[in-house]
Formats: sequence, C-alpha cells, structure tokens
Amino acid sequence: MNAHNNTGAARPVISATGLFTPEDSISNAELVESFNAFVDRHNAAHADAIAAGEVEPLVHSSVEFIEKASGIKARHVINKTPLIDPDIMEPRHEPRGNDDMSMMAEIGVAAARDALARAGRDAADVDAVLCAASNMQRPYPAMAIEIQQALGIDGFAFDMNVACSSATFGIQTAADYIRSGNAKSVLVVSPEITSGHLNWRDRDSHFIFGDVATAVLVEDVSIAPAEHWDILGTRLKTVFSNNIRNNFGFLNRAEPETIGTPDKLFVQEGRKVFKEVVPMVAQMIVDEADRLSLDPAALRRLWLHQANAGMNRLIAQRVLGHEASEDESPTVLDTYGNTSSAGSIIAFHLNNSDLVAGDTGLICSFGAGYSAGTVFVRKVA
Ligand code: COA
Repeated sequence: MNAHNNTGAARPVISATGLFTPEDSISNAELVESFNAFVDRHNAAHADAIAAGEVEPLVHSSVEFIEKASGIKARHVINKTPLIDPDIMEPRHEPRGNDDMSMMAEIGVAAARDALARAGRDAADVDAVLCAASNMQRPYPAMAIEIQQALGIDGFAFDMNVACSSATFGIQTAADYIRSGNAKSVLVVSPEITSGHLNWRDRDSHFIFGDVATAVLVEDVSIAPAEHWDILGTRLKTVFSNNIRNNFGFLNRAEPETIGTPDKLFVQEGRKVFKEVVPMVAQMIVDEADRLSLDPAALRRLWLHQANAGMNRLIAQRVLGHEASEDESPTVLDTYGNTSSAGSIIAFHLNNSDLVAGDTGLICSFGAGYSAGTVFVRKVA
C-alpha cells in the first residue's frame, strides 16, 4: 500500500469523472409491450381461477403513466433481449469462469479508465479503489480488488454499499483518506447492474432502473490537474426505513423454486419514499449549505440523485427558492432511468463542462436506508 504522511496541507478535490453506458437501451414502449404480453399470458393461463374469483387478474402497465409518474422514457441495460422477452423477463448472461473478469469489474474498469484518461492520471499513481454500489456480484473477493488488479494499482481496495447513496458515501470516504494523509489519489467506482435486482414482472416498479457504471477520481489538490472541482464539504445521513428493501442475502437466498419471489428483489413503498425523503433531503442540503456559509439560492447547479423527476423538482425548489430550470437541475432520467448510486454522478459528468471557475454546485444522492449524501463543489480553472 502507498502510505502518505499528512503534511498538513492535504485537501480533497474531484480531478475527473468517468462513465460507461451499455449499448442496449429499452424504450418505455418496448418495456410496456413486453410487460403487457406477460400480463395477457398470465391472465389467459389463469382464466378459470380469475373467473372463479380465486386469483386477481394482473393489470396492464402504460407508457403514459411511467413518463408522468417518473420522468423516465428509456433505460440502458446489459443484454436487453431476455429482459423484454415475456417468457423470461429476467437477466441472462453468459456464465464466466473465475479467471475471466466479472461483469461488475468490467464495466467499473471502463468507467475508471475514462476518469483516469480525463485527469491524465496514470493508474500506477492511484492509491485506492472503492467499489461503491447497491449490489455486489459476489461477497468476496471484493469487486474493488478485482478492479484494482485490472487497472494495475498498487494500494488497497474494498467494497461498500449504501444503496443509492453509495457514490457520495464513497466520495466522503475517499475525501477523508486524502484529508488524513492516508492516500493522495482514490477512485470511487460505481458499477450498477440494477437489472439484476429489479422485478421486471412488477407493474409498480418494472420501469424504474437502468444499468451503468461511473467513476470519480478524488485526489489531493497537490497532484490534481489544473481544471478540477474543489470539495467544499461533504455530509452523510442515514435513517432506518423498510420502505425500500431487498431481502436477498447469504442467509436468505432465492432458491430455484422461489426465484422471482418479490422480497428477494427490489421492493418499495414509492409514495412513502417520495413523501419522507423529499423534506429530509431538502433540509439536509439547506443545513449543510448554512454550515459551509453558502447561500443555497446562489448554487449554480444541482446534480441530484436520479430516481424521480417529481422528487427532484420539489427538492430543487426548496433549495433554490424557485422552480428549477433544466439548466439549474439537469435530469438524465429520460435516457438512463434510475441508476441507483450512479445517477447524480452521471448528471454531474454530462452537465458540468459549461460551468466556469468559481461556479458552485451540489452533488446529492438519496435512497434506501434511508441514506443521503451531499458533496458541495466549486470549479477551479
Ligand atoms: N402503469 C399504469 N398505472 C400504474 C402503474 C403502471 N406501471 N403502476 C402504478 N399504476 C397506477 C396505480 O395502480 C395507481 O392507480 P390508482 O390510483 O387507481 O390506485 C396509480 O397508478 C398511482 O400509483 P402509485 O404507485 O401511487 O404511483 P406514484 O404516483 O406514487 O408513482 C413512483 C410511483 C414509484 C414513480 C413514485 O412513487 C416514486 O418515484 N417514488 C419514489 C421512488 C424512489 O425514489 N425510490 C427510490 C428508489 S432508489
């Protein structure tokens, strides 16, 4: 491991971000067509039981509802075909041997290489890799260590999971390593293969998620490229809630006969999440701005977690004091859907090049736990 002594001047900045977007994309129309075909087949197969009142018929989904309720128009996924095949509606991937790079590592490495190239950073000069995501492909060895090895990094790596807030929790963890002098360059990688925990047969949530990978290179200002983002402050918060939950785990596996059992996949009380998380996050942002002596109304841009356009509209309004324009609070929900922890990082990655030195903004995540994280940043150079 590369140990760095604290010289007293260590200060964390974001040197660059990276993005990997899967080629496949599913439009709402394709998604709903497949879902409704599944519903029709299910209802036909259970016609007698439904007629006898023993089984509730399933109900069609709709493109209009999805777009209106969430702002999502499409989502990228790794391997679209089985997900929209009404006979499958689950992920199917070619099995890989232990000597082949695992999927999460592969897309994480792609995003990390993008960030490293943008920063002009040689991977050999990175000290640590955090794989921060909602789901890990396996318990161990850590995904982060596989990514570290693939990039040729001499240092340390570990996985961390705080659901949709994983990336901001990762940024604060990386920033703390820089502040303490334990590292000078840390990669926070968030490969989110959300198609694996989404219940594609559940009308209430089948439209929510998409696959992606992001990377954030957090470094000490002394080695950062001239153009970077000062981290003005980071703040994390968690409050236990069952309203977004997934019971899959090593003590609670989906046995073959119960695969697809809803509680081993993503389940949520969407209305409650909406009502409880919006005020919690808006207050947290305003309080943290106050702690940092920043005027929230003067923030140039908010890069919010990408779960729901309505939630973002309300949070941005409470923070800025007026209805936010797309320029003030950009959304990537229309093409990416909810990409869990990667969402606010995608929004930042795709919407920061037009800002100028001195502009101040906020990267903010929120989600299961509940969990929320704020990273206030200011552009330099
Ligand atoms: N197609 C058509 N209609 C649908 C539907 C679908 N796919 N899913 C639900 N509906 C219907 C419901 O049956 C209900 O009808 P009713 O009023 O006649 O009973 C109506 O639409 C409203 O359903 P509801 O589930 O209350 O929708 P909503 O307006 O709350 O929107 C979410 C649902 C999930 C988009 C929204 O609650 C949300 O985004 N919540 C926060 C999600 C979030 O951030 N989660 C974190 C994940 S990390």
